[in-house]
Amino acid sequence: MPKKTAQPRTNNSQSAQSSSAKPRARARPAAPALEVNASNDMPLGMPPSRFLTQYWQKHPLLIRGALAGWQVPITPEDLAGLACEETVLARIVHRERKRALWTLQPGPYSEATFTGLPERDWTLLVQDVDKWDAEVAGLLDFVRFLPTWRIDDVMVSYATDGGGVGPHIDQYDVFLVQGIGRRRWSISTERNAPRALRPDTDLKLLAEFAPTHSFALEPGDVLYLPPDVPHDGVAEGACMTFSIGMRAPAESELLLDLAEHLAEHMPDTQRYSDPDLRPARARGLIDSAVLARVRAQLGPFAQRIKAGELALWFGRMITRYRSAALITGNGQAASLEQVRVMLLSGRALLRHPFARFAWIEHGAEGASLFAAGHMVHCPRALAEALCANARIEPDDAVLRDGSALTALRDLLAVGCVQFARAPRKRA
Ligand code: SIN
Ligand code: CO
Repeated sequence: MPKKTAQPRTNNSQSAQSSSAKPRARARPAAPALEVNASNDMPLGMPPSRFLTQYWQKHPLLIRGALAGWQVPITPEDLAGLACEETVLARIVHRERKRALWTLQPGPYSEATFTGLPERDWTLLVQDVDKWDAEVAGLLDFVRFLPTWRIDDVMVSYATDGGGVGPHIDQYDVFLVQGIGRRRWSISTERNAPRALRPDTDLKLLAEFAPTHSFALEPGDVLYLPPDVPHDGVAEGACMTFSIGMRAPAESELLLDLAEHLAEHMPDTQRYSDPDLRPARARGLIDSAVLARVRAQLGPFAQRIKAGELALWFGRMITRYRSAALITGNGQAASLEQVRVMLLSGRALLRHPFARFAWIEHGAEGASLFAAGHMVHCPRALAEALCANARIEPDDAVLRDGSALTALRDLLAVGCVQFARAPRKRA
C-alpha cells in the first residue's frame, strides 16, 4: 500500500547501525531525505552542489515551496490553443476507468476536440512550450545550475480530475513543477520494481506498479525524479503541471553518430582486406580469421563487442551489403507441413539469385545461416549446401532434419529461397 504522505528519511538512520556488531557486508548508503522545504535563498532546499551530489541522477526529491509565489504564465485555454497549431507536439491521454483502458489522441486538434471531451479523467500534454512562450521559458531559471545543453524542454499538462498518463518510467531526469491545483504523485523507490510494460496500449505503461510513496503536490511544489523511477501523477481536481525535462542521448545514439562522423572522413580506399587469405575450409563460412580481421579493422569500435555478437552482426551486414535488389518475400510464413508437402511433390528449392549467403559454425553440427541480412539457425549441412548450390533437390539429405525445414520456412517467408516450378508430368 502506498504511504499517505512521504516519510522524510534522514541520514540519522545510519546511526542505528553503528553498534558494536561488525557489519558482514558493506551496507548501501541510506537514501537521503525524500522531502525538504525550500527557502527564499535556497529554492532547492539546499545548495545546488549538495543537490547534485546527493540527488541528481540518484534519488527523488520533493521540494515543498520551491517555486512558492510563482505566477503561472499560461492558462488552460492558452494551452489548448497551442495544441491546435500544426507544428506543436501535443497529445491527449484519456483513461477509461471502468475498463481500465488508456487511449492516446495525438494533436493537432480543433476546438471541437475539446468540447467533445468528457468531464474528467483526461489530460492534455504539450511539449516544448518554452519555445513558444517566453514566460514559460523563464521557468528554466529554476535549473540554471545545470548545463543548458542538458535541458530538453518544458512540457505543460492540463488535467481534469482523475487525469494522468498512467504509471510509467522516463529515461531522463525531470522536475515536475506544480502550477495550478493539486496532483497526487505516487512513486516507487524500489530498485527492483518490475518494469514490464502493458501489452494493450502504445503508451508504455507499466504492467505492475506498487508505489512506495505517495504525496500531493500543491502549487509551487517541485518533485525531482531521476531516470528510471516508476511514477504516476493523478490530478485531484483540475490542475496544471510544468515538467522541466532533461535530455541525455542513448549510448546507441552517441555511437551511431560518432560512427557516421568518423565514416564521413574516411577514404573509401580503406577497406576490408585479407592478404593473408587461405583456401576456404567450407563454402560461405565466416571463420575466426575473418572475424579477427574485422575486429582489427574496426579498432576501438569493436572493443566492447563480444565475439558472438560481432559474428552475428558481420554475417547480417556482409550478406546485405551492396545488394542490387531488394529481396522481399510474401511475408506469409508457410506452415512446416506445407513446406514438407511441396518437397514431397518434387519441388526443388532455388536460391534467390540476388541473395548472398554466409554462415558461422556452432559446434560440429549447428550453424547460423545469413541470407540477405536475415539470420536463421539450421544444421551445418544445410548452411553449407545453400552456400554452395543455387538449387537443392527435394530429396537431398540436408532437408531431412526438422530444424532444416524450420529454417527453410523462414527463408521462404523473406524470399531468400523459393520453390522451383512443379516438374512437368510425363505424358
Ligand atoms: C504530466 O502529467 O504532466 C507529467 C507526466 C509525466 O512525465 O509523468
Ligand atoms: Co513521467
